[in-house]
Amino acid sequence: MRIQDVARALVAPGKGILAADESGGTIKKRFDGIGTESTEDRRRAYREMLFRTKGAAENISGVILFDETIRQNAADGTPLVKLLQDEGIIPGIKVDKGIVGLHGAAGESVTEGLDGLGARLAEYRELGAQFAKWRAVIDIAGDDIPSDYCLDANSAALARYAALCQQEGIVPIVEPEVLMDGSHSIERCFEVTHRALRSLFSALLDQRVALDGCLLKPNMVIPGKLHAGGRATPDAIAEATIRCFRDVVPAAVPGIVFLSGGQSDEEATANLDAINKRGPHPWAFSFSYGRALQAPALKAWLGSDDNIEAGQAAFAKRAKLNGLATSGAYSASME
Ligand code: 13P
Repeated sequence: MRIQDVARALVAPGKGILAADESGGTIKKRFDGIGTESTEDRRRAYREMLFRTKGAAENISGVILFDETIRQNAADGTPLVKLLQDEGIIPGIKVDKGIVGLHGAAGESVTEGLDGLGARLAEYRELGAQFAKWRAVIDIAGDDIPSDYCLDANSAALARYAALCQQEGIVPIVEPEVLMDGSHSIERCFEVTHRALRSLFSALLDQRVALDGCLLKPNMVIPGKLHAGGRATPDAIAEATIRCFRDVVPAAVPGIVFLSGGQSDEEATANLDAINKRGPHPWAFSFSYGRALQAPALKAWLGSDDNIEAGQAAFAKRAKLNGLATSGAYSASME
């Protein structure tokens, strides 16, 4: 398939992406939360449970994997990638190597992983990956963070990654995540997200990335978790998010797939739904959720093979409700 077709398939109506690409440290944190030791076998068991969920492909177009998972086999020896492919779910791979402090910019970071990336992408493609993800982390702190320097350094790396992906025939998902951490207002999140996206699309165009062959994975425009005014309504989030994206995201981009970034599972669904109730939009608005798709499944599973059906039911429910939210057809009464 051409990258343009893969990108469109990932945001087909009613479908979105499962982000199951937690690094070793992050999956340990999630397993700590349910009192389960993070061993290779338990990570395999957990992800196998998700990937074997019956009917998941109705609402899940693709899954982002971590390096360990793309090489791992199910208990019966079937490669986990093959479980997905057999259901018509597109495998993807996280390729960045995490963040490091940005030189000369205290408190800011840049994402690493460009060295040797072309060769790694070629190997991942052999292993079945048709799309990739790279996450830049943008913190909001006080009036001066993020700096333009931080935004531009991250955009340059995202664009270089995207160019390498397209050279290898892989769809890049570009993720400039403005964190929800902190006490900032929704207006401040709007301003920073707007600047981050302007910087990103300028870099993507400079590096000749085909916008119709990539997907954007952003935060919603939303107040910080510690904002004195509390949470905003789905309607307020939808209004600010759409206004921001209409300003700076070219219509050639086929889809915008949100991260959940610390929203609860129900919030993330309600907010996506509110955005799509205000459609039609120039792009498909869908999801690439990690925590918001997995939190109830983790809690139901609790690390035990006895709870696989309960975990799958919890995951299937979030997938279905988020699928409905891609067309604004969700309502809270379905919870
Ligand atoms: P969350 O939805 O949990 O934010 O994870 C999505 C993701 O892939 C972040 O990089």
